[in-house]
Amino acid sequence: MNNKHLLKLLDLSREEIREILDLADQLKYDQKHGIPHELLKGKTLAMIFSKNSTRTRVSFEVGMFQLGGHALFLSNAVSQIGRGEPVQDTARVLSRYCDGIMIRTFEQQEVEDLAKYGSIPVINGLTDFCHPCQVLADLMTIREHKAKLEGLKICYIGDGNNMANSIIVGGLKCGMDVAVASPSGYQPDQQVKDFAASVTDAKFVLTSDPAEAARDADVIFTDVWASMGQEQEKAERERAFAGYQVNDKLMALAKPDCMVQHCLPAHRGEEITEEVFEAHAGEIFDEAENRLHAQKAVMALLMK
Ligand code: CP
Ligand code: NVA
Repeated sequence: MNNKHLLKLLDLSREEIREILDLADQLKYDQKHGIPHELLKGKTLAMIFSKNSTRTRVSFEVGMFQLGGHALFLSNAVSQIGRGEPVQDTARVLSRYCDGIMIRTFEQQEVEDLAKYGSIPVINGLTDFCHPCQVLADLMTIREHKAKLEGLKICYIGDGNNMANSIIVGGLKCGMDVAVASPSGYQPDQQVKDFAASVTDAKFVLTSDPAEAARDADVIFTDVWASMGQEQEKAERERAFAGYQVNDKLMALAKPDCMVQHCLPAHRGEEITEEVFEAHAGEIFDEAENRLHAQKAVMALLMK
């Protein structure tokens, strides 16, 4: 792995993504078979959280423990970060104590600055721009279920948010065709659209029509209509996304063995129906589990 950090999937090559997924598969096997894999013995990960989390916090903390290291939780409520200590200083302080930093925050720039000013690997645990760890776990899950990535068609229905941005980049980098249906005003980031336009060996479609995006899909993704930090926009977003639900009618347009992926938490009755969610719960909770294995691979590659 040439990258020192995991700031966004745009920074990774297809080979680096494959390296992470291959190690993730190996670490999953080791963990399931009781094979010791203390690749980060004695190392410490600082975890900065400016937003809520269940999966990210637990999977990183458990992952560090299984790798023989230690993770410490720094929420805004208890650290000086929450009282405005500049990121440049936090980066240099944590670099003197720890071996890696995982951060969940709002601005992508904050994550980039941590990497710039610190001297230890930085891992993005979600920003408003992207969610790279989640999509690495998603790619791992799809590969487990479909035995390949290249040539599949993945589809994302809903808000052009952090998840959409990472799915587009991760999918195209792995040679998958990507179709996104978002209403106007809620499209993915321009930087992501520019990247998609530069890809020559996979197809990208951006439409406002969910049916067009879902047709013949191998995997359908969706995510909440209002992300963390957008709670005030809930009512207007419910109106904007009314036709953007993953339901049986939409699933009928996809391939018969189409998977469903949702990063969770899910809002049943909004972006996905109870029926579709429960019919695909096995795949969705495999996806949640794979956060653990994919992130262990990322940490082992970056922090060893
Ligand atoms: N999918 C995900 O990142 O979940 P949490 O917000 O619970 O960490
Ligand atoms: N788009 C969601 C993802 C949560 C894991 C959010 O940012 O809140």
